[in-house]
Amino acid sequence: DVRILVVDDEPQMADSVKQNLVEEGYSVDIATNGAAAIESFDQAGHQIVICDLVLPDMDGLEVMRHIKDARPTTEVIVVTGYGSVAKAVEATKAGAFYFVEKPFEFSEIQLLIDKAAEHHRLIVETASMRRQLSTRSEYFNIIGASKQMQTIYETIESVAKSDANVLIVGESGTGKELIANAVHYNSLRSKKPFIKVNCSALPKELIESELFGHTKGAFTGAHADKEGLVQHAAGGSLLLDEIGEMPVELQPKLLRVLQERSYRKIGSEKTYPVDFRLITSTNRLPADAIRDGALRDDLFYRISTITLHVPPLRERNEDLQLLSEHFLALYAEKYQRQTTGLSPSAYQDLFAHTWPGNVRELQNMMERAVLLAKGNQIEPSDLSISNGGPVAEGASANVSWSVPPHMTLEEMEKSLIESTLKRTGGNKQAAANLLGIYRPRLYSKIRRYNIDAGAIRRA
Ligand SMILES: Nc1ncnc2c1ncn2[C@@H]1O[C@H](COP(=O)(O)OP(=O)(O)OP(=O)(O)O)[C@@H](O)[C@H]1O
Ligand SMILES: [Mg+2]
Repeated sequence: DVRILVVDDEPQMADSVKQNLVEEGYSVDIATNGAAAIESFDQAGHQIVICDLVLPDMDGLEVMRHIKDARPTTEVIVVTGYGSVAKAVEATKAGAFYFVEKPFEFSEIQLLIDKAAEHHRLIVETASMRRQLSTRSEYFNIIGASKQMQTIYETIESVAKSDANVLIVGESGTGKELIANAVHYNSLRSKKPFIKVNCSALPKELIESELFGHTKGAFTGAHADKEGLVQHAAGGSLLLDEIGEMPVELQPKLLRVLQERSYRKIGSEKTYPVDFRLITSTNRLPADAIRDGALRDDLFYRISTITLHVPPLRERNEDLQLLSEHFLALYAEKYQRQTTGLSPSAYQDLFAHTWPGNVRELQNMMERAVLLAKGNQIEPSDLSISNGGPVAEGASANVSWSVPPHMTLEEMEKSLIESTLKRTGGNKQAAANLLGIYRPRLYSKIRRYNIDAGAIRRA
């Protein structure tokens, strides 16, 4: 439930804003001077405050600072008189969510208030998620508080101490390797080696000798005896990454090793005991790989004693937010930037994206964003998202744009303003925000070019 405080020394102005907000379903209080505003806020702890900067008894900035000190999660939208842009900029630096210039129509601040409410909700939800002690948001370097990840943590806890074979299934970039690490480092074998073999990265002919070793002269090029990786993994764990890429001819041999708990080097009749815990991973559904003949079903049954399904990032929005904050902080630290977070519209873009590259894609995007961002907040333009998916109003979708050869600069400007107004449904403040100019400038351009904003709004 969102409660809003409207601070304005003109009672009629405050009243009309209140009327509109109440119709939108918000609870609203009014204060007509700074002292009353502070008193009301201290009592009710409003989530959103709309505050005029010029008040009869004190500077609106002071009111704002009091609010931000007392309750940093409260979003303050600052209202300024015409031409006091410098003051407004000072306010945004002090933490104002946004500013609007007087006089404004309610429709112009409606979008901002909805965004502020959404922003506030996200912040509070994350905070409360973190407070729930029974909920883990981090587990052995894995970030994630979603239901699905909790189930994964619990499963790892319950099987790590056994020697059960673990198969990890998930799309590329979902964190399979991190999960494999958690299994090993949480097991009784954690102090012993953890050997990782990527079956898709090794040439087919080499996998067998890499895994099991060979004797001198076993094949051309085998100049000396070689220990296999299963020997290096003795006492520890062996991760076979992309098990679906293991040559089918080799799969029966691996199966025999797992059944008999012993192996043979290429070129030797001698058998040696194996002592490793097997963890495998695949980014294909095992059923598909089996159907295509890439994975033998007898091997599959052997390696999948425990199967962990890692969900794609698009199916866990709460993790998306945690992870983006995590990576932002990480790269801000690494590159010594003052990045504070994502703007509300940048968040909208993140949630609208489908993340085909999963967490790896998010990680790379946040790294780029930290490096590219001009301000302390990450804006949609810093994100390089281009999934063409539905984008919420006011977000940074590129207006599709072509420039005919004989167009003048003025015609281009007129046409850009018209298409931006179309996108914002005629909302001039939102259009000015998107165009990166102050509203009075947009008004003067609308007059100069004779743009019929009313018609666009009605269209
Ligand atoms: N839950 C997570 N918390 C923190 N970082 C994560 C998480 N999931 C993935 N990552 C990071 O994303 C990147 C990709 O993760 P990882 O290599 O484990 O994915 P994968 O599923 O093995 O991908 P692939 O199938 O392409 O090998 C790594 O840098 C990893 O640290
Ligand atoms: Mg991997």
